[in-house]
Amino acid sequence: MSTQKTILRALAGETLPTPPIWMMRQAGRYLPEYKATRAQAGDFLSLCYNPELAAEVTLQPIRRYGFDAAILFADILLLPQALGADLWFVTGEGPRLSTITTADELKALKPVSAIHDTLSPIYETVKILSRELPSETTLIGFAGAPWTVATYMIAGQGTPDQGPAHALKDANKDVFEGLLDIITEGTIDYLSMQIEAGAEVVKLFDSWAGSLKGDDFLNYSIKPMARIVAALKAKHPNTPIIAFPRGAGKKYVGLHDAIGADCIALDDGVTAAWAADNVQIGGCVQGNLKSSHMVTGGDALVSETRRIVDALQNGPHIFNLGHGITPDADPENVQLMIDTVRNG
Ligand code: CP3
Repeated sequence: MSTQKTILRALAGETLPTPPIWMMRQAGRYLPEYKATRAQAGDFLSLCYNPELAAEVTLQPIRRYGFDAAILFADILLLPQALGADLWFVTGEGPRLSTITTADELKALKPVSAIHDTLSPIYETVKILSRELPSETTLIGFAGAPWTVATYMIAGQGTPDQGPAHALKDANKDVFEGLLDIITEGTIDYLSMQIEAGAEVVKLFDSWAGSLKGDDFLNYSIKPMARIVAALKAKHPNTPIIAFPRGAGKKYVGLHDAIGADCIALDDGVTAAWAADNVQIGGCVQGNLKSSHMVTGGDALVSETRRIVDALQNGPHIFNLGHGITPDADPENVQLMIDTVRNG
């Protein structure tokens, strides 16, 4: 039955006449119904840890648009919190965490086996969603990739160039690699539990992969993701995995094999035509439309959407943006994108 779902067919390598579609951050502040539920929950983290309301916001874009996939509503920074880091969100600015930069701080983290004490509401959200989603909609679970999660844990916030994480890597490799190891092991357990609760696909977000140069890209973005994929495939061989090494540029070549992923998500830094020749030959690809088109709309949105669909039509493709939709996006532009993908 489940192999009938279009997202799963594309992930299995099938070339479909119309690519299935979903959107990063599809449950988010550009939707009035999201803002209403978030206000009801209180703050963002209270929403993440409230299974009924988190399931509700996950379902909102499915009801409004009929996307082919729903992505669990949660955040990549819940795992650091479950490992013992303090986490809070400053309105208008973003996340703040207590930092890990010394051996003592690393040692003070909780053991990986303790993460489920904090994360069990997330598994409950997955269970609710697997009951409530329409039968044709695929449920995607996710986590951050170790490098990206580490950049936030080391800096204690988002940074333009991930400078503090690069500095720790160079100044204290043992602490840096120890932290990556803990995040890697935690992510394996976290995603296994999401799969056991009902996630049909999982995605690894390496939003800051592009700042790793030379061998660091292989060692700290690709290898930890490959370790997670190998462990998940050993336990859950039938669960497809999407990897998003954002900013990889020319290094997108060969990543299906290097990571072991069923699908590689593209940012908007490569052209779809280049990706067709150089990345899609390895398997399914997803993404690429500049998320600013969801703000500006019009003819440019339609022609860019068509260009991506055409360029990737001869192989497995899931339509998506190159990064998350932003709060200033117009919900009508999302409908226009979907209509263009589905009706040409
Ligand atoms: O895609 C989805 O709809 C699923 C839910 C999801 C969220 N965050 C919800 C969220 C997913 C998959 C993420 C991933 C995430 N979180 C990433 C990786 C992807 C990326 O965007 O690069 C990162 C780096 C984070 C960390 C994070 N969470 C930041 C930096 C911020 C603040 C920036 C912002 O947009 O406000 C968040 C908050 C966040 N995560 C929001 C949402 C809907 C906005 C919170 C709100 O409602 O105020």
